[in-house]
Amino acid sequence: MAITPKADTPRRDVANEGEHPLVVVHDIIGRSRPKARIIAVANEKGGVGKSTLAFHTAIALCDAGYKVAVLDLDPRQQSVARTLAFREATAKRLSINLPSPTHTVFRHSSGAMLCQELVRIGWQADYILLDVAGSDSPLARRAIALADTLLTPINASFVDLDLLGRFNPTTHELLGPAFFARMVNEIRDEKVRRGMNGTDWIVVPNRLRGGAAKGPSVNQQRFDAALAHLAPVAGFRIGRGMSERVAYRELFLLGLTHLDLPRVPQLADMNSAAPQEIANLLEDLALLPVQEKIAVPA
Ligand SMILES: Nc1ncnc2c1ncn2[C@@H]1O[C@H](COP(=O)(O)OP(=O)(O)OP(=O)(O)O)[C@@H](O)[C@H]1O
Ligand SMILES: [Mg+2]
Repeated sequence: MAITPKADTPRRDVANEGEHPLVVVHDIIGRSRPKARIIAVANEKGGVGKSTLAFHTAIALCDAGYKVAVLDLDPRQQSVARTLAFREATAKRLSINLPSPTHTVFRHSSGAMLCQELVRIGWQADYILLDVAGSDSPLARRAIALADTLLTPINASFVDLDLLGRFNPTTHELLGPAFFARMVNEIRDEKVRRGMNGTDWIVVPNRLRGGAAKGPSVNQQRFDAALAHLAPVAGFRIGRGMSERVAYRELFLLGLTHLDLPRVPQLADMNSAAPQEIANLLEDLALLPVQEKIAVPA
């Protein structure tokens, strides 16, 4: 028998589920911070491209000449740490130099340990990338609270939008921010209330389909409109997005991005529009001074 929720069924309440944002911010405030800018890549939804975008952002920043430290907060999967280990192996095997971040897997759960680790890995870095596991946890909330920039990849579908916004299932009318967005904003508000720097939040659609020739599908257009309505309400910016590309998966296994192709003689003639997408990602993150946009290989 289908169970229909009553009209007055309470919505998920951030304050009553998971650790309260007041407690989260209280736990990190006043602790030492590294000078590096902290970028957390987080979405409670799994499999949306967090590790993929964390990796691409880290390599793009290294490619632009910055010192980068990556902290993998997913000790079960260790996706980004493993990819960076593959990168080291690829560089060794091909005897080439690949600009790379340092990388560490974080295996603890306390906010104090996380702050200590950030200071340890960040003292010589310009940027720290946090690859946050795809579930809600006290550690994920602390990573979000510590972030100067929060990068949230999202697959371009209403199914994946439902932790960010609630929409009428038939008309797609916006009903309001959903659980993850409310939790992020309670943390952001509390940071500002306690005198900490705010968090710049950017949502980046991932695995976009349909090339420039065909233009976006009807579903894609609905999704884009919904995200555009939600952005000012939930307080995030929207990035231009990453396409669905087999090459992103395959190069990931070698620890490479398209920005590395000119450095790898065997792959140098691989042709793709991906480098522009990676440059757009970095530009949309608004981390670099305007005149320092990354060079896209021809
Ligand atoms: N733009 C893309 N094009 C093609 N494949 C992609 C793209 N982005 C991600 N993928 C693939 O989707 C899968 C999930 O990506 P990824 O591991 O980055 O997600 P995640 O959000 O980190 O997942 P988790 O929540 O499990 O940590 C991987 O197989 C990855 O290679
Ligand atoms: Mg991951």
